[in-house]
Amino acid sequence: MSMPTPRRAPLRFPAGFGWGASTSAYQIEGATKDDGRGESIWDTFSRTPGRVRNGDTGDVAADHYHRYRDDLDLMRDLGLRSYRFSIAWPRIQPDGTGAPNQRGLDFYRRLLDGLHERGITPMATLFHWDLPQALQDAGGWESRDTAYRFAEYAETMFRALGDRVPTWLTVNEPKTVVQNGYLSGHHAPGRQDPEAAYLVAHHLQLAHGLAVRALRATGPGRIGPALNLHPCYPADDSPEAAAAARLYDGYENRLYLDPVLTGRYPHDVLADLGAQSRMVQGIADGDLEVISAPIDILAVQYYTPIYVTAQGGTARRHPTSEAEWQQIHPEGMYDILTRVTRDYGPIPITVTENGLPTPDTVGTDGTVDDAGRVAFLRDHLAAAHRALTDGVPLESFHVWSLLDNFEWAEGYDQRWGLVYVDYATQRRILKRSAHWYRTVIADNGI
Ligand code: FCB
Repeated sequence: MSMPTPRRAPLRFPAGFGWGASTSAYQIEGATKDDGRGESIWDTFSRTPGRVRNGDTGDVAADHYHRYRDDLDLMRDLGLRSYRFSIAWPRIQPDGTGAPNQRGLDFYRRLLDGLHERGITPMATLFHWDLPQALQDAGGWESRDTAYRFAEYAETMFRALGDRVPTWLTVNEPKTVVQNGYLSGHHAPGRQDPEAAYLVAHHLQLAHGLAVRALRATGPGRIGPALNLHPCYPADDSPEAAAAARLYDGYENRLYLDPVLTGRYPHDVLADLGAQSRMVQGIADGDLEVISAPIDILAVQYYTPIYVTAQGGTARRHPTSEAEWQQIHPEGMYDILTRVTRDYGPIPITVTENGLPTPDTVGTDGTVDDAGRVAFLRDHLAAAHRALTDGVPLESFHVWSLLDNFEWAEGYDQRWGLVYVDYATQRRILKRSAHWYRTVIADNGI
């Protein structure tokens, strides 16, 4: 009698690899008025006519605030080992300061207990863009004070939930706040002011550093920032394109990596901004020491490369997804992971976001066939595996996203989930990619 041969994935990941999925509060929770939650800048922004496609808001979203138990079961059914989510600051401090709202804390405590009961390790982001509106009214991230308010909020969370959260992430994608919130203005708070934008960059990093400090003073736990990194390649072989790509890389990557990991802002970017810029003027003595407080883990989010022309513009070299800003280039995952390890040393890395939107619909047989997502994730995981083999200390990988959700200015038009959400009924349907991911996790490889 022959024994069944166990399935063997050709690309095996290290034992205990943290297979995960990612979400954020405003994008999935809904329940924006429940249990004492305050207003956030995304409530304001999404209610402003013309800001979000179809006038969509996060008022209901995937109704996760009410359905979190079912969503936890779904995560268990997928076999997830890690779940990366965010805490809505306005649920904890409705006005951005002062004593915490117990009912807000209780929600996250229940969520965390549910994760632990199901053997899923939580990773909690403190700030995923839903700034309390009251703090925006007081100047938002343009005000240095907001960094100190953030540190207070972070400390509240460490004290309340530190026993349940092994890994904290401070600020999600400071670059996106800078670029989308303050340069292009297509995200909240919808400003177009380059001088303000880079001052905001500094204050977001200061907030990160102050939170790291607060964790060290409060107790155990690991902490790090969540940075979206874009490999910047010259669009042609000219020395001009090489130089332009180098500066572009400064604005996309080094502006956020260097201060945290080396204690310095990149010279070329500071020179380009100018000594009189609000940002450079806003760097106080000691700030870089705070910002560079040693971290335990670096969260990397990879979606797309950028090709930079000799004139400093951008070019397309690969097919794009439904998100016009996203070129599909799995090699970029390898390039960015190996580059971080090469340039900054062997700091533990988690990939906290990677994914794409696909035009998903429910077929007559009730299934959702997102073959494009399966191919995308397989190719990006293969690139991540190669980075691991070449020495990158990659611990875990989180697909963006667990569920279809409110994709910011795109509203509900783009579907990024492993799990389809029928917004009319809030029914969840595992897409083909979810079934595929379950076998990847079970096989510990692809
Ligand atoms: C990232 C965000 C996340 C989601 C994905 C598609 O920039 O962190 O909330 O919108 O993009």
